[in-house]
Formats: sequence, structure tokens, C-alpha cells
Amino acid sequence: MGPIPERYSIFAPLYDVLSAEFPIYRAGRVLGIAAMAPRMGDQVLDVGCGTGLNFPLLQAGIGETGTIVGLDSSADMLRQARRRATKRGWNNVILLQSDAATLDPAEVAARVTAAGGQDRSDAAIASYALSLMPQWPRAWDNMRALCRPGAMLSVVDMQDPVGAAALFTPLARLACRLGGADIAARPWQAVERDCTGVLRATARGGHLQIRAGRSAADASEPS
Ligand SMILES: C[S@@+](CC[C@H](N)C(=O)[O-])C[C@H]1O[C@@H](n2cnc3c(N)ncnc32)[C@H](O)[C@@H]1O
Repeated sequence: MGPIPERYSIFAPLYDVLSAEFPIYRAGRVLGIAAMAPRMGDQVLDVGCGTGLNFPLLQAGIGETGTIVGLDSSADMLRQARRRATKRGWNNVILLQSDAATLDPAEVAARVTAAGGQDRSDAAIASYALSLMPQWPRAWDNMRALCRPGAMLSVVDMQDPVGAAALFTPLARLACRLGGADIAARPWQAVERDCTGVLRATARGGHLQIRAGRSAADASEPS
């Protein structure tokens, strides 16, 4: 398997059907978005948004007056996300191609405002995305910097299943390896460290880990 952008160019058209969404991964996004609790009119940043599988749940929270900012490094995944938005008649979706780990928050904020959004989002989610980024701590810092102080931040990611579900460890590891995720990354620990009022949930025998909390007021601003 090649590097992540090339891999997701190949996956993009089939991602929604091959990603085990309904039996396994939907449970994490439902819990992660519920914990983030987006409100009507919010602007929500979706880091590594992929084909936009989070978008229907986000739209239900933010309504027509809200905005989704979907950021992904893969043009082909973003093309699928755009198709989803167009098909559903959503005019409040801004999609940006950018590497979450190496982006310049000021430059991305300028692109968001040029597209009609706010420079800083009210909430952000990264579902099954940070563990694919070897430099995920930098992506997490950028996610915080692109949100206002006090924004709700949600991370949904994967680890080895535990307890009786440990039987499924080889399958979980295979799924992560195919998707390019590091199952040992544990990026939700950043929420525990940097946020207040942290909400915790797990699903699918501990394979899915969900954390959401309020960003501390000192996240650096796009200048
Ligand atoms: C497993 S998919 C998850 C997509 C979506 N968040 C979901 O819940 O279905 C991971 C996504 O992260 C994107 N990605 C990987 N590395 C990235 C990076 N450094 N910056 C931005 N996006 C990245 C991939 O292109 C892919 O669309």
C-alpha cells in the first residue's frame, strides 16, 4: 500500500461501502458528534473529513444557518464529499484540500473566510483521521488553532479491542493497516490533556474511543 494521499485516491469511490461503516464505525461518529453537541448556526470543522460521512449528523445539529468546513489532504475524497453535499442540496459546506499537520492556520482561516465562513470554528471533530497522520500532534494543534476558545473538540479513533472483544484484534489491526492508521497512536489523549469537561465513550469492545471536551482559552489564534 502506498502513501496516504495515493491510497485514498484509490479508496475514494468505494470508501463508503468498504469501510464497514454500519456494522462498526458509524457507532463512533454518532457518539463523537453527540458528545460535541453542535448547535444551530455553528460552524464545525471536520478534520480529515473524507467523503463526508459525518456531514448528515452534523447538519442535523447545525441546520441551514450553520456551516461545515471539511478539510482533507485527498482531492479524491473531497470530490466524494462534494458529491454528497450537492446530492443533498447542502449549500453550507466549505471543502478545503490541505494537510492538517503542516497547514498554516492563518492561511486556512483566510480560505475559509474567502469562501463565506468564519475564520474560527465553533466546534471541530476528527473521526478516524488523526491516527493516519504520523504528525498528528501538529494536526491537533492546528485543529485547536482553527477554533475559537471554548470550542467543543471531538476525537474519534481506534485502538485494539479489549476484554472478550480482543478476539477481533487481528481484524481490527487489518482494518487499520489497510486504512493506513496507526492503531497505537491514541490521539484522543490530546483531548484529555488540553480540554476541560472531557466526555468519554467507547464502542465495539473498546476498539472505538471517543473523547470530547472544551478547548482551553489559550489555543493560538490564526494571525
Ligand atoms: C479513514 S478516513 C476517515 C474519513 C472521515 N473522517 C470518516 O470519519 O469517515 C481518513 C481521512 O483522513 C485523510 N487524511 C489522512 N492524512 C491527512 C492529513 N495529513 N491531512 C488531512 N487529511 C488527511 C484521508 O485523506 C482520509 O480522507
